[in-house]
Amino acid sequence: MDNFLWWRDGVIYQIYPRSFADSNGDGLGDLDGIISHLDYLEDLGIDAIWLSPIYPTPDKDFGYDVSNYVDVDARFGTLEDFDRLVAETHQRGIRIILDLVLNHTSDQHPWFLESRSSRDNPKRDWYIWKDNPNNWQASFGGKAWEFDPGTGQFYLHLFTKEQPDVNWRNPEVRKAQLGVFRFWLERGVDGFRLDVFNAYFKDPDLADNPPKFGLRGFDRQRHIHDIDQPEMMPFLNEMRTLLDSYPERYVVGETYFATPQKTVSYCGPDKLHAAFSFDFTTFNSALAEAFQLYKWSPLWIMKQFILREQTFNAAGIWPTTVMSNHDLPRAASRYARGENDSQPFLAMALLLTLRGTPFLYFGEEIGMRDIHLRHSEILDPPGRKYWPIYTGRDGCRSPMQWDDSAFAGFSTVKPWLPVHPDYKWRNVATEQTDLNSLFNFTKKLLALRKENPALRRGDFIPLKTRGSMLAFLRRTHEQTVLVAMNFNNQSVNYNLPDGKWHILLSSAQSSPGSLAPFEIQISIRQ
Ligand code: GLC
Repeated sequence: MDNFLWWRDGVIYQIYPRSFADSNGDGLGDLDGIISHLDYLEDLGIDAIWLSPIYPTPDKDFGYDVSNYVDVDARFGTLEDFDRLVAETHQRGIRIILDLVLNHTSDQHPWFLESRSSRDNPKRDWYIWKDNPNNWQASFGGKAWEFDPGTGQFYLHLFTKEQPDVNWRNPEVRKAQLGVFRFWLERGVDGFRLDVFNAYFKDPDLADNPPKFGLRGFDRQRHIHDIDQPEMMPFLNEMRTLLDSYPERYVVGETYFATPQKTVSYCGPDKLHAAFSFDFTTFNSALAEAFQLYKWSPLWIMKQFILREQTFNAAGIWPTTVMSNHDLPRAASRYARGENDSQPFLAMALLLTLRGTPFLYFGEEIGMRDIHLRHSEILDPPGRKYWPIYTGRDGCRSPMQWDDSAFAGFSTVKPWLPVHPDYKWRNVATEQTDLNSLFNFTKKLLALRKENPALRRGDFIPLKTRGSMLAFLRRTHEQTVLVAMNFNNQSVNYNLPDGKWHILLSSAQSSPGSLAPFEIQISIRQ
């Protein structure tokens, strides 16, 4: 295919391993489960998979508390299983990305066990210890400092107290962390997603953060001293040099408190390839955040996108698009009323046609919805802490709905989180046989992207439309594609741009120039 670069032109599918497929009947997904569904992913038409953490973990933050960076959690499999997964993935022309959680370790990581064993242990300085805490808050609630009675000092943790922050100012730590990259590169991994990378370095004096308006303690501070320190740049250079010594590797960062401007500042030929700017998953005010109100209207989407385009274009950085992930209510739950799929179709069309690399979250292709848990069932630490103001992230992590058999074909036993009750009819097997399903729409869109370079790499040209519509062109030298969407339950007519248009894909089969309620129309100029 024309100059196809997998991480720029392709679509990356996020797998939350414990919820994807359980092959050994323990209620938890695993590597063999993933292997057994690679044919499914190949058939769907994605180009790469990103695995949320698979390392040994005490599960205080469900894998994001790592106790060994260079092994696989026994519940998921072994390193040999991982090698098999890499080989099987590559055999199908699919790339594989791992999640590196290097800002903090688990408090059970041998590095931390050593560090906390005595004040003069050689690894004491591998973490951040202090006699008197500053005012920093943990993002999962409470103070960011935990007293260690054994050695009489406090250690820093920006997340749970079982996730101590590593001291990135220590050169030995940086060396060890680069070793982690190398270990997985040598095993054939194609890239990495870096968890909260811009929090690695803290202010050298650990100065207090200034206050601001917010509801939760963590939101009542301006995070200027605990994240985004200039020392990150030299490390990114070093890491990129290592990555570039292997062919076609990729690194994408999870930008903490992302804005387009901040995001691009971390990307470039000697920094990250890309970083998430989360343009469509943020709230538009602190108050909206308290009530979990996500904005969603054609005008707002266009505004967000244009803002992002201006920043990314000027900087020459390739953007990413995210509608759902393991930290957010799924787009289908944010924007749809009940089980109606009109909005999930629109969200999917945007994800796969806006300029940038799409990150598709497992189950998004069948419109999976969040589960709702009783207080006593909540597992996620911030959900337990902040309930009922915030109920946590378990909702979007429920098991994949493969078919209508018991436990949705995910497992033969009760899974670690409940399956959504709609699985009897909302599942892969059912949607595969329904030509009008979101699954088949997604599959067709993925194929269209492959066939039409304009949809992957074309410029983005917004078109003026009525309030309930959104339309834009994607254009290369050879091709012009028109994407038109109706966000309303009334039909609309619109003025076609000059030329003769042929519809490539439509969710409702109207003719060019008119859209049925909630229709998505993708046409090509002939
Ligand atoms: C990132 C992850 C999230 C995790 C946190 C701490 O935001 O996406 O799941 O809880 O970092 O590692």
